[in-house]
Amino acid sequence: MANESLLRAAGLGGPQLNWSFDSFPDRIRETKVYQAVKKWAAPKKPKRHGIILCGRPGTGKTGLAVSCVREWAMARRGSSLRWHIAEKAGDGRFVAPVWFEPWSVTHHKFVESSFAGGVDRLSLLTNCQLLALDDLDMGNPTAYREEMLRMLVERPYYEKRLILTMNREPTGAVDILGERIVDRLLDRSVYAVLYCDWPSLRTGA
Ligand SMILES: Nc1ncnc2c1ncn2[C@@H]1O[C@H](COP(=O)(O)OP(=O)(O)O)[C@@H](O)[C@H]1O
Ligand SMILES: [Mg+2]
Repeated sequence: MANESLLRAAGLGGPQLNWSFDSFPDRIRETKVYQAVKKWAAPKKPKRHGIILCGRPGTGKTGLAVSCVREWAMARRGSSLRWHIAEKAGDGRFVAPVWFEPWSVTHHKFVESSFAGGVDRLSLLTNCQLLALDDLDMGNPTAYREEMLRMLVERPYYEKRLILTMNREPTGAVDILGERIVDRLLDRSVYAVLYCDWPSLRTGA
């Protein structure tokens, strides 16, 4: 499988296909957060299987999550057993061991799919080796959403990697995530909360 289709199978698209740890500017690469995320993305078993990236828009949170997914996808290229081309997810994409799922899309697909399809999809998300959920604190809270997230935030307890991005820090997102989920996110035995507290990459400030 060509590299690009591998990355697409993992859910990446557009400019994200070119993003990696190496393409960040120096001022980000010098930060502790960047170095911690890069270390976490290496094959060695991490201290905590969950990472939460918090910070203002434009600070590179999505880019860091994409870089993790890319790293994992590339490390697994050529492993045909792990990339079941014939097996299809509910939406016809490849079943990949690594997923980059913008949170709004995850939620949308789960709610839209039939009951069986929804369970299928959920098992993909819970069983894959590394899952990234982007912009967790965006959108409108619903019962479905909370139910799904309640399952997904358990991943790190089973030593499955999960990287989350949010604009707010977990305690500031109780209104949208609910108390139970925020309580999980604050469990320092499985989650590291990292703050991207530098100026936006977009303004170049
Ligand atoms: N890995 C990367 N390599 C190069 N540029 C990046 C990378 N990640 C992000 N950027 C640049 O920074 C901008 C903001 O990054 P993004 O990850 O979208 O921020 P956030 O998710 O925090 O809002 C992107 O539009 C892109 O121009
Ligand atoms: Mg983003």
